Amino acid sequence: LKKIRISHLQQLKDNGGRFAMLTAYDQYAAGIFDEAGIEVLLVGDSAANNVMGHATTLPITMDEMIVFARSVTAGASHALVVCDLPFGSYEVSPAQAVESSVRLMKEGLVHAVKMEGGRHYVEHVRALTAAGIPVMAHVGFTPQAEHALGGYKVQGRGEAGAAVVRDAVALADAGAFCVLMEMVPADVAAEVDAAVSVPTIGIGAGNATTGQVLVWQDMAGLRGGKQPRFVKAFADLRTELSRAAKAYADEVRSGSFPGPEHSF
Ligand code: KIV
Ligand code: NA
Repeated sequence: LKKIRISHLQQLKDNGGRFAMLTAYDQYAAGIFDEAGIEVLLVGDSAANNVMGHATTLPITMDEMIVFARSVTAGASHALVVCDLPFGSYEVSPAQAVESSVRLMKEGLVHAVKMEGGRHYVEHVRALTAAGIPVMAHVGFTPQAEHALGGYKVQGRGEAGAAVVRDAVALADAGAFCVLMEMVPADVAAEVDAAVSVPTIGIGAGNATTGQVLVWQDMAGLRGGKQPRFVKAFADLRTELSRAAKAYADEVRSGSFPGPEHSF
């Protein structure tokens, strides 16, 4: 496997190819996905939900993101590692976005950052790009704005579709190397993909984007319960892990583990 660079993702877009992205928060998941050939790993602020058990992504801090980032970069050797700018780490000014991104790259050792928000963040994207920090834009549904948007809702339906396209084009023009779209109608995402020359990534955005992303625990069926429409579980890790834990406990209780072969 070769090291994935932004230029490879651009080549895939230019040649009509596609790539896969998954979140990762720790070295094992990162290492497994890296070896499996997943092109892009996202240290998502969704660690707030999927690791820490928060109800939203809002509480996670820069210091916490750096721990997750460092864990993922320790486990990955080929994938491009992108890290979310958490809520509160960039909104105030382009300078704040640069300072936070420098920390994620210097301390978390990630290769690029992802920032939520539309065309109001073009100056942020310009400042990051000027500083040599690759930035992935995140438009459509932006979970950090959950309270402003009134919950988890598809963005860009009907008339509002044009605004999503405008956001994506403005951020790409400002220097974003990629545009991620979350929960937007498939035809709007297709329009964005046609309107920007950089690669696009979708989650709940149909299949016309260059890449797709899922939260890894959703992809692997670890979460259980009701899943959003855009999730597909490709394994049933929740059942498998529960089975292993029960089998272990049974053997401990019966005295059959550890056996002589596990003892000194
Ligand atoms: O944090 C996250 O998981 C994301 C999604 C786009 C997958 O930002
Ligand atoms: Na995120």
